[in-house]
Amino acid sequence: MRGIVTIDGPSASGKSSVARRVAEALGVPYLSSGLLYRAAAYLALRAGVDPGDEGALLRLLKARRVRLLAERAGNRVLAEGEDLTPFLHTPEVDRVVSEVARLPGVRAWVSQRLKEVPPPFVAEGRDMGTRVFPEADYKFYLTASPEVRALRRSRERLQDYEEVLRDLLLRDEKDRDQSAPAPDALLLDTGGLTLEEVVALVLAHLGR
Ligand code: DC
Repeated sequence: MRGIVTIDGPSASGKSSVARRVAEALGVPYLSSGLLYRAAAYLALRAGVDPGDEGALLRLLKARRVRLLAERAGNRVLAEGEDLTPFLHTPEVDRVVSEVARLPGVRAWVSQRLKEVPPPFVAEGRDMGTRVFPEADYKFYLTASPEVRALRRSRERLQDYEEVLRDLLLRDEKDRDQSAPAPDALLLDTGGLTLEEVVALVLAHLGR
C-alpha cells in the first residue's frame, strides 16, 4: 500500500479502532486527526484560555510545540515532550472540542500537522476524505445510529447511557458542517457488525 486511505465518520462510529486495525493489516501507520482537536481543547481548558479565542489558542499550540506521534500501537499527542494522550478522552474535553474544531485557524493547524506526514498511511476523522486528503486512493465513511454509538461509548467510558446519548447528539449537531461524507466514499453502517467484520469489509474493498 503506497497511498492514503481515509476513514471518516461521527463520534463513536468505530473509526479509530477500525483505522488502527486496517493500518496494522496494511503495515502502515494511522493518523487520528480527532486527537489533535482534543489536544487543542484540553490545553485551552488547562491554561484557562477561552476555547473560542482563536488567536490565543493558536499561540498556545505553537508555544507548546504540539505534535502527533503516529505509532503503530496507538497515536499520541506530545506538547514539548509531555504526553497529553491520557487526558484527551474525557467528558470535559468532549464538551468543548467541537467549539475548538469550528475555528478555521485550528482546522488549518491540524491539516498542516497531518500533511507533514509522508504517505502511506490511514487517516481517520471527519473531513479526511473531503478537505484534508481529497486525493486519497480509498475513502470510507462509517455510520451507526446514535443509540448504537452511545451504547458503545458508555461502555468505553463507564458513563451513564442517557448522558452519553445526550452529549453525542449535541456533538453530532455541532460537528455537522465538517462531517459530511465525501461523494466518492464507501458508506458502511457498522450497527449490526463487530469490529472484526468492519475491518474485514474495509480490507476486502482494498483487495486484501
Ligand atoms: O473523532 P473524535 O470524536 O475523537 O473527534 C473529536 C472532535 O474533533 C469531534 O467532536 C470533531 C472534531 N474533529 C473534526 O472536527 N475534524 C476531524 N477531522 C476530526 C475531529
